[in-house]
Amino acid sequence: MIKTYDVVIIGAGGAGLRAAVEIPKEYSCAVISKVYPPRSHTGTAQGGVCAALSNMEEDSWENHAFDTVKGSDYLGDQDSIEVMCKDAIRAIIELEHMGMPFSRNENGQIAQRFFGGHTKPADKNDPFGKRVPVKRSCYSADRTGHVMLQTLFENSIKNQVTFYSEFFVTELLMENGVCKGVVAFDIANSEVHIFQAKAVMFATGGYGRVFRITSNAHVGTGDGMALVYNAGLPLEDMEFFQFHPTGLWKLGILVSEAARGEGGILKNKDGERFMSRYAPSVMDLAPRDMVSRAIISEIREGRGIRGSDGTDYVLLDLTHLGKEVIDDKLPEITGFARTYLGVEPTTEPIPIQPTAHYAMGGIPTNVNCEVLMNEKGDIVKGLYAAGECACVSVHGANRLGTNSLLDLVVFGRRGGKAISDYLKNASFTEVRNDADERTKEIIAGLLNSNGTEKAVNIRTELQNTMMEDCGVFRTEEGLKKMILKLEELKERYRNISIQDKSKVFNTELVEAIELDNLLKNAEATVYGAYNRTESRGAHTREDFPKRNDQEWMKHTFAFEKKGSAPEIKYKPVVVTRYQPMERKY
Ligand code: FUM
Repeated sequence: MIKTYDVVIIGAGGAGLRAAVEIPKEYSCAVISKVYPPRSHTGTAQGGVCAALSNMEEDSWENHAFDTVKGSDYLGDQDSIEVMCKDAIRAIIELEHMGMPFSRNENGQIAQRFFGGHTKPADKNDPFGKRVPVKRSCYSADRTGHVMLQTLFENSIKNQVTFYSEFFVTELLMENGVCKGVVAFDIANSEVHIFQAKAVMFATGGYGRVFRITSNAHVGTGDGMALVYNAGLPLEDMEFFQFHPTGLWKLGILVSEAARGEGGILKNKDGERFMSRYAPSVMDLAPRDMVSRAIISEIREGRGIRGSDGTDYVLLDLTHLGKEVIDDKLPEITGFARTYLGVEPTTEPIPIQPTAHYAMGGIPTNVNCEVLMNEKGDIVKGLYAAGECACVSVHGANRLGTNSLLDLVVFGRRGGKAISDYLKNASFTEVRNDADERTKEIIAGLLNSNGTEKAVNIRTELQNTMMEDCGVFRTEEGLKKMILKLEELKERYRNISIQDKSKVFNTELVEAIELDNLLKNAEATVYGAYNRTESRGAHTREDFPKRNDQEWMKHTFAFEKKGSAPEIKYKPVVVTRYQPMERKY
């Protein structure tokens, strides 16, 4: 049976729900999510959401925009960055009015803290001279994403949105450059449904699960990106994947940068504050790409600490902050250290290692969240994307901490507004009754297969090799190896079978389809990284250690070519006010 809605939003994290809140009640709106909305990955965001509110000290949206451009290693599109940073202040006040419980400063205003790469000029009259850290990140202790998600969920219920929770979207329906809906199956009983819609928005988050050590929830398999890629549309800048410097050792669970914002210090095995070597002016508050490289360099040079399982880590020391600050401002992450590593952060440093955290790349869009069908900027009518799955591009080659929650609410709202405008004149496009045939075949194929491969083995190999060959440091040799490995894994995927033959909550079936999505995202990532012969932001080529603005001030657009390497095209970066400079901190 075909279900019909004016708009279907896929993903119930911050971006999807913020868009849903924006759709006027006169239009029918469905949100489809793999999980119950309050379990979406936005809920794991910890340290904050930034805006130049000036509640703690003087700041401006221009300071924020400059930091974001510089943090992006000049790959971020400056027109999009201006839109985001200008709108940030309004967006935070709006969240406050929706009921989001922010932490407060002594004056009762929204409290703000330091975060990596957020700075202001030391001398107001010299805007491009020496810069010092600024308190710009608004927060709710270290559970900012959790309270934001709850707030947006409550507001979308108020807006009478219909939820399809634990539904897995498997196909994007598109014809002649017009989007007409999606196909999904209900995880509870494996029944397949066609959703016909005038407008569709992807807000499906990232694909951190392509790496072994990641802060991403298990749902982070990049389904929306893979569906778009599979439909012949491009993915942009996938080679830029952020490793957050401080994941809990071995597990990758996020230990918020807020810990360093509140004064935490990184130390090597000799107790040395090693960031003084890599970023002398801002030290532990350098952007994430730099801190992650610094940690791996310390480990490579023998100054890490060898753990019982033979892997290495460095230390995040909070002991000098005192129990009161830790309990008040960092209760969640210190709880994680106690629970998962048996470490008491008030008296002992926390073992940490870089963890795959955030996709800067994704589904290319313009500032109104309309999905681009090519590097020339043509759009697919009725198709939108926002949040981590999208690439606007505000984060360029490296995202600044707390710009992600901001991206969700600014572009979630803009997407919702753009959809509402589009709906004024849009009509339904015919969808055939058998549009769900392909999904039915995929499900039946997996349930009936006698193949000899197991999805779990392929996924583990993918995660291990991506970590080794396409992680923080990359080389031509490693990337070539990874390309061959992907070919092998894709071939083996054709021969998988699943043991669970039931149709009721068959998580093995879901994971098998997710693995196909991970392989697609890995392909776009690895080829983008192989072709980009420079180092910029989170993409560090040891064989090309310098940024090369002459040749590489451009975005990668990868198009899937079934059975061969993706086709790679490029689109120039938009530069408005800030010419590229050397990136020093
Ligand atoms: O460290 C953190 O709290 C993460 C924030 C972010 O990724 O924006």
